[in-house]
Amino acid sequence: MVVVSSTSMTPIASQLAQELGCQHVTIETRRFPDTEGYIRIATEDIDAIRHERVIVVSNTFPDSGIVETLLILDCIGDLRNGDLSNYSNIEPQLLPKVDEQILLAIPYFGYSRQDKRFKPGEVISAKAIGKLLSSKCNGIICLDIHAPKVLEELDFPIAFTTAMPELADHLSQTVKPDFILSPDKGAIERASMVAELMGCEFSYLEKVRIDARTIRHEAKDLDVVGKKVVIVDDMIATGGTICRAAEALREQGAIEVHAACSHGLFTGGAIPRLLRYVDDVHATGSLENARDVIPCGKALARGVRELEQRLGWSSKLE
Ligand code: R5P
Repeated sequence: MVVVSSTSMTPIASQLAQELGCQHVTIETRRFPDTEGYIRIATEDIDAIRHERVIVVSNTFPDSGIVETLLILDCIGDLRNGDLSNYSNIEPQLLPKVDEQILLAIPYFGYSRQDKRFKPGEVISAKAIGKLLSSKCNGIICLDIHAPKVLEELDFPIAFTTAMPELADHLSQTVKPDFILSPDKGAIERASMVAELMGCEFSYLEKVRIDARTIRHEAKDLDVVGKKVVIVDDMIATGGTICRAAEALREQGAIEVHAACSHGLFTGGAIPRLLRYVDDVHATGSLENARDVIPCGKALARGVRELEQRLGWSSKLE
């Protein structure tokens, strides 16, 4: 087995390779002056990539990540088909076709939030991206995807894994909270898992989204007087959801409030905004971000193992 990624994904890909006890191969990536992407697999890595199961680690965020992921999968597909033909006539041009599997591990699945048609005529972006990717690999592993249902409907092997055990570990060593809060109903499953793993009290808020930048929480009594609270969500983008939840917690007497998430998007000055409301912000390294304090290679490795078992593939891990 070999883990393959572009350099931008090196931290998480090398954590995954370490967990799986295999080699990590980095692909050359660069941009043409007009911003189009280019990728190349080094000659010395071709053999391993042809003859071993490959786990590609790549994000569908930002948009250039979608293109990069497709180019990497296509490039590996050509190598597997033995098609090495090149304009410079460098041998070998052709090799026998090999039949090894390609899995795609996606730490952060961009476009996952448009998972349904909210109004007539809209695109279901998560499904569109999922269909594209599934045409180029044998299985996908997604870390803390916003709503798995839309990909489950694709009838394709997908494992959904979560970094909540790693969040719980990190929080118990650093914050040592008394109370975990889910800022909306959508995050209940993840946040309550963290609460359960840590033996903390748990509650959730009801969120009404007015627009992409404005949300409102329904009033609710929370038993947080004198307590340290962590708000746990799958992702933080503008920070609006967390800031409003933190306000509610402070008003009700919480003495310390932290925010923790899998995916730290932190758009448009989110971190300084968040730090006006919370004591600290904790995120995984699913995408490059300034609050990456929780490694999530282990979580991806759990997803790889689960998918391999489900597919009945022999694994060097067992
Ligand atoms: C939405 O339901 C998600 O789980 C997050 O709560 C949301 O995307 C966070 O966005 P923002 O930080 O912009 O409020």
